[in-house]
Amino acid sequence: MTNPITELFNIKYPVIQAGMIWASGWKLASAVSNEGGLGIIGAGSMYPEVLREHIQKCKKATTKPFAVNVPMLYPNLEEIMQIIIEEGVEIVFTSAGNPKTWTGYLQEKGIKVVHVVSSVKFALKAEQAGVDAIVAEGFEAGGHNGRDETTTFTLIPMVKEQIKIPLIAAGGIATGRGMLAAMVLGADAVQVGSRFVASHEASSHQAFKEMVVKAQEGDTMLTLKELAPVRLLKNHFFEEIQELYSKNPSKEDLITLLGRARAKKGMFEGDLDEGELEIGQIAGLIHDIKPAAEILHDMIREFEEAKAEVAAL
Ligand SMILES: Cc1cc2nc3c(=O)[nH]c(=O)nc-3n(C[C@H](O)[C@H](O)[C@H](O)COP(=O)(O)O)c2cc1C
Repeated sequence: MTNPITELFNIKYPVIQAGMIWASGWKLASAVSNEGGLGIIGAGSMYPEVLREHIQKCKKATTKPFAVNVPMLYPNLEEIMQIIIEEGVEIVFTSAGNPKTWTGYLQEKGIKVVHVVSSVKFALKAEQAGVDAIVAEGFEAGGHNGRDETTTFTLIPMVKEQIKIPLIAAGGIATGRGMLAAMVLGADAVQVGSRFVASHEASSHQAFKEMVVKAQEGDTMLTLKELAPVRLLKNHFFEEIQELYSKNPSKEDLITLLGRARAKKGMFEGDLDEGELEIGQIAGLIHDIKPAAEILHDMIREFEEAKAEVAAL
């Protein structure tokens, strides 16, 4: 498969394993890259020196291209970017911040920069900032998201209509059928998050992976819009948020309830009641925990089958 994204990243398949806090370390990223997709190390949950270790291990585990995702809302940004440059990372996915801040600087060092957006407005801003490609992420997606509730099905064609640079679709894609749909809507590639959480190589806690597999339609919700909107599984912590909302809370009340390290507690330490369990709506279609290589190859096989089905219409 050759298209603007496979050429930009020098990869075999237009499938990108999303950068995800507490899930995508070097094991997952290198497993996906070795099979011809693009693996991403999620720097958001790593101290700078931990990130360096993951990059070094990833370089040992694969000779194929891989990327690092940097959510720009976390501290130590300068140090993180310095490590990325020193370690010779070739591709960076930035999210949750202004793409103008780092794009030019990273590109001067020969790094390709992709920025994640959740609206047409921000896609245009990212294009103006000079990024090499855009990830447009719909409301269905797991993790932090936009406030506008624009679904992948509507966002992708709207962004496609406005921008000229390569476009990657994210949010609600876990199968080859979903991948084909996104590409018919105008995407050059897909970024897949939730499906890869339920993989052997994801660093997420086993109990969280099992809860993802058990999740049904309607078991996730986007909440905490006043802070940073996030889609998560409805557990005891989620119920506490709902209860607080019924009392018309201030932003400070929400910050106090969220506290510190909720995401680590839930997704990494496996506290399914009190932790923040980030996952997308598509969890309802994830029925097993399997090797990342199998996830990728199943997707590509289903994509080809679905393409043939559609061609025969
Ligand atoms: C557990 C989890 C953690 C995530 N962490 C990040 C992150 O650190 N940075 C980021 O840009 N996006 C993050 N996301 C969003 C993903 O990168 C991706 O865009 C999204 O999962 C795609 O939607 P899907 O879950 O429906 O596949 C996260 C998603 C999940 C499920």
